[in-house]
Amino acid sequence: MSNVTLKVNGLAHTVDVDPATPLLYVLRNDLGLQGPRFGCGLGQCGACTVIINGTAVRSCVTPVSTVRSEITTLEGLAQNGTLHPLQQAWIDEQAPQCGFCQNGQIMTAKALLDKNPNPTDAQIRDGMSRTLCRCMTFYRVQAAIKRVVNKGVA
Ligand code: FES
Ligand code: FES
Repeated sequence: MSNVTLKVNGLAHTVDVDPATPLLYVLRNDLGLQGPRFGCGLGQCGACTVIINGTAVRSCVTPVSTVRSEITTLEGLAQNGTLHPLQQAWIDEQAPQCGFCQNGQIMTAKALLDKNPNPTDAQIRDGMSRTLCRCMTFYRVQAAIKRVVNKGVA
């Protein structure tokens, strides 16, 4: 065990953990952040996605001790009580079904739009293609992303 300090959504936290512990476990179990989900635990589904250095990262396969930069989780998207445009678009398009994968969908979309605020449909499909949804919400997720792109508020 050792002390690891993480900056998450603007706040610093020090946790006493095995350095090899997946970041996902620390976020959920030690910091009580329930946005990132445990899906596959193998880096394959995207349910656990957080953003580090502007990149969508699969926290289930990221040892906590390797994280050097600030982490943004789903809980960090809304600002001053106002939903992020993607969150609002998710509501407007009624994107989720069971909801389990949707943390990964939103966080992957955020990283995508942060890098390219005006992606083509093909770029959206490609950027989201590795974030899985067993409820098949892909079309509504893409519509929500397009809504943000078309409004120019990404
Ligand atoms: S739970 Fe991390 S990629 Fe599936
Ligand atoms: S909404 Fe159910 S897994 Fe995606």
